[in-house]
Amino acid sequence: MKVLVTGSSGLIGSEAVEHFDRQGHDVVGVDNNMRRVFFGPPGDTLWNLERLKSVTRRFTHAALDIRDRSAIEELFRTQRFDLIVHCAAQPSHDKAREIPLLDFEVNALGTVNLLEATRQQSPEAVFVFLSTNKVYGDAPNEIPLKELEKRYDYARPEDVAGVTESCRIDQTMHSLFGASKAADLVAQEYGRYFKMKVGIFRGGCLTGPSHSGVELHGFLSYLVKMTLSGGKYSVFGYKGKQVRDNIHSHDVVRAIEEFAANPRPGEVYNLGGGRANSISMLEAIERIEHMTGRKLDWCYVNEARKGDHICYISNLGKFQSHYPKWRITRGLETILEEIIASQRGQLAHTRAS
Ligand SMILES: NC(=O)c1ccc[n+]([C@@H]2O[C@H](COP(=O)([O-])OP(=O)(O)OC[C@H]3O[C@@H](n4cnc5c(N)ncnc54)[C@H](O)[C@@H]3O)[C@@H](O)[C@H]2O)c1
Repeated sequence: MKVLVTGSSGLIGSEAVEHFDRQGHDVVGVDNNMRRVFFGPPGDTLWNLERLKSVTRRFTHAALDIRDRSAIEELFRTQRFDLIVHCAAQPSHDKAREIPLLDFEVNALGTVNLLEATRQQSPEAVFVFLSTNKVYGDAPNEIPLKELEKRYDYARPEDVAGVTESCRIDQTMHSLFGASKAADLVAQEYGRYFKMKVGIFRGGCLTGPSHSGVELHGFLSYLVKMTLSGGKYSVFGYKGKQVRDNIHSHDVVRAIEEFAANPRPGEVYNLGGGRANSISMLEAIERIEHMTGRKLDWCYVNEARKGDHICYISNLGKFQSHYPKWRITRGLETILEEIIASQRGQLAHTRAS
């Protein structure tokens, strides 16, 4: 196969590059290091690009901007792709309010550029779009909750497995980021209307060792980074009992691979770590402190982030029923061990240079 991965120096993109390269496919990566533009030097992904070049065999990289329609058209004119894994994005809920135009151009327009180029030049290709659970806005906060000592949880038995794809996406507060991921709807149309092999994954917290974690994006990675470096961490609202479900980038890419092998045009799937990989802020701090042997310098800000979820657990039932071979292979302990090792390495590298 010839695989195109956008956002190839990012967390999910780089995992996809390595995975498909390891299997002997030709992989083209597109990434212009825009994460550094969004988040400054800590968001720089060049270290990950260098790492990829050293561990892959058939990977080629192009520093294209997905907003640049003619450059994208040219890329698709000169190469025919079998699989497109679209991960390039402005990924932060909070950052979007500072840069609404840029956020929309990258997330919405950039995605349409890629979908249309695929339709024109590689219409038989499978196209996977990494969407977000923020398309549900704060509607998941309407699910009745109970408050436990260190976390919130769903109060009713029927909600225990988490949020399903039938959750409302309209008339809720999404944040501008959740709205620019309206590209989710456009992607569905390329599947349903044009009958292309498009799949949409609505991510919970996607995580792993290759995250260039920054305060506004990459929750576990940034939490570990601050614990190891002695930096200050702020917890916003909900008494620190807000719950996130975390999925390792490897399990995300395995889901993409399963979909690519047997695509269902226009389908939407929630993809997170599920209940077993869910953790609250307070629990995560405690666990990371225990695993690193260091105390985190954190403070509580009594104001939740706008549109933030109180308790979000992805219901994985739909994806698992369509793709029964797929399962979560990395639990929280493994995820945290890998992030800690990676962050220790990155810190040592920064201190040495
Ligand atoms: N990480 C999460 O917790 C999470 C959760 C839900 C959804 N998602 C979605 O999954 C996808 C991948 O997320 P990630 O965590 O790997 O993000 P990431 O920021 O690590 O990677 C995105 C990459 O895209 C590149 N990029 C940004 N704008 C670009 C542009 N205009 N042209 C070319 N490259 C560009 C960046 O430089 C970066 O390397 C995104 O669509 C994101 O919204 C992520």
